[in-house]
Amino acid sequence: MVKYLNQVPTKNAKLVKWVEEWADICKPEGVYWCDGSQAEYDRLCNELVESGLGIRLNPAKRPNSLLFRSDPSDVARVEARTYIASATKEDAGPTNNWIDPAELKKTMLGLYDGCMRGRIMYIIPFSMGPVGSPIAKIGIEITDSAYVVINMHVMTRVGTKVIDTLGNGEFVPCVHSVGKPLAPGESDNGIWPCAPMDKKYIAHFPETREIWSFGSGYGGNALLGKKCLALRIASVQARDEGWMAEHMLILKLTNPKGEVKYVTGAFPSACGKTNLAMLIPTIKDWKVETVGDDIAWMKFGKDGRLYAINPEAGFFGVAPGTSMKSNPNAMHASSKDTIFTNVALTEDGDVWWEGIGYPAPGKLIDWKGKEWDAATATTPAAHPNARFTARAKNCPAIASNWEDPAGVPISAFLFGGRRPSTVPLIHQSFDWNHGVFMGTIVGSEVTAAALDVKAGTVRRDPFAMLPFCGYNMGDYFRHWLEIGTKSTADKLPKIFYVNWFRKTADGKWLWPGYGDNSRVLKWIFARCDNAIEANKTQIGYMPKVEDIDRTGIEDEVTVDDMKQLLSVDAEGWKKEIGMIKEHYARFGSHLPAELNEQLAAFEARLN
Ligand code: GTP
Ligand code: SPV
Ligand code: MN
Repeated sequence: MVKYLNQVPTKNAKLVKWVEEWADICKPEGVYWCDGSQAEYDRLCNELVESGLGIRLNPAKRPNSLLFRSDPSDVARVEARTYIASATKEDAGPTNNWIDPAELKKTMLGLYDGCMRGRIMYIIPFSMGPVGSPIAKIGIEITDSAYVVINMHVMTRVGTKVIDTLGNGEFVPCVHSVGKPLAPGESDNGIWPCAPMDKKYIAHFPETREIWSFGSGYGGNALLGKKCLALRIASVQARDEGWMAEHMLILKLTNPKGEVKYVTGAFPSACGKTNLAMLIPTIKDWKVETVGDDIAWMKFGKDGRLYAINPEAGFFGVAPGTSMKSNPNAMHASSKDTIFTNVALTEDGDVWWEGIGYPAPGKLIDWKGKEWDAATATTPAAHPNARFTARAKNCPAIASNWEDPAGVPISAFLFGGRRPSTVPLIHQSFDWNHGVFMGTIVGSEVTAAALDVKAGTVRRDPFAMLPFCGYNMGDYFRHWLEIGTKSTADKLPKIFYVNWFRKTADGKWLWPGYGDNSRVLKWIFARCDNAIEANKTQIGYMPKVEDIDRTGIEDEVTVDDMKQLLSVDAEGWKKEIGMIKEHYARFGSHLPAELNEQLAAFEARLN
């Protein structure tokens, strides 16, 4: 018998049956339907603080904000424990982990059996995208983590209005448990609950559009609307229905004449999406406003252009490196109403992290809960993947039309990653297919956003989707090529490849990045209007050195630096060709012939 803690807010029989089946399996103390209200949010925050899991920050410093410290084994996505359990292994493709869906369900049902003993089962109705928008999708997440509930409140639209909009309609079922049942009388004792690594599973069943997550409470593993629904499951739907679900920021760019263009950018995790989406231009009278910082869903409008919406309602942003200098908008967005995870705590009840822009104010408590002193510390005070969960509406740069259900028309796609060498500051594709080729070969130095891949080494991360594509990546390349046949070149976004992360021989950044990236956006704007000539090179169109506006940074970035940033490193690219061939070989017959043609043509241009 299911024990409901509040009234069931829906008559959707399928939904109620599904909830009751899972309650039977997980055996929670009771079932609670989330209404998405501020009162519910405040109550859960208080309970989390009382239980010792959350720390309320000093309201004079960070109003209405909490700090959480996760288990050291639960600090980021775990790619080795993430599965695309499609009917066949071939559908999951060579870049995804695969287990037969029936077998995986059997294993996981064993783990779910009784996993919520001593805990409450929360039912979170959420909408990805503005509630009721034709592009939005409704999911229902079952979870035993109040931390997940409050994060979902910020990151998605939660509550009764979603249930009303759903009516008797379809939803994406998402099941989550931290995987730590409590014995009678036992409590978490202020310790982040999760399961050991070999019991963690982040599972996706693409054919039935189901998500099952077990054993982790962190970010993309647990907030199932984000990477699991809005990318892995949505990418499958997008393939079937002819649209795009991408790991992209969306920004609104206004030039001094007041003309507007929208740009999206696909950069791998912790490679600068949030920063670019919120940048403050260092060139006069240019403006950037934020539409989204992580995910874009795009569909063709009647006019043949691609329109993008941000399915999220908040930012789950990387804290380290965020400062009033690098990203003031993110600092403002997280100045109140924010959930911090794995940052350091100051003596006066505020937060601190490496790269916040000022030295640690006295002794700290680090992300592991230990005393930390800058003078003697050998490890960082904040985890490199420490995050803030902040409301989009608290970001001063949020565009007034960011929730437009029709989306915004996209003029340019940017691809990029962390490449200390070879890849120039910017180059533009010759055409759509060449741009798709560029997307497929994106490589990046690995960051701390995933737990189980070695940071610092370069890996191929096509379209920044390597960990997020819900089907065979070779077929996903084909989908990109097909999108290019659905409209005309003048209407499709122009494609650019950027690299803010070039380094000098002695390891310093060659390009200042952040707000100065607006100088590159200015060139992109002009290229979208066909208003400026470019050099045609072996790798694509590139700016003339004098066409990147350096007003005010002429001393910091010299003409020689610019020449280096904008040169074609033919030898470097020749080495790259070998790596691309290896990368392509993985996809076998799923690799579209067009891409081999692109590769052959590129090789010929280099020789
Ligand atoms: P996810 O949320 O993991 O998808 O990351 P993201 O792509 O949004 O990355 P984010 O903007 O949070 O940046 C991650 C790190 O890169 C931060 O430490 C930033 O300070 C740093 N970064 C961002 N933009 C630049 C840049 O233009 N130059 C340099 N050198 N570093 C940058
Ligand atoms: C990423 O890793 O790309 C993120 C953080 O945006 S998470 O939500 O944990 O996936
Ligand atoms: Mn991301």
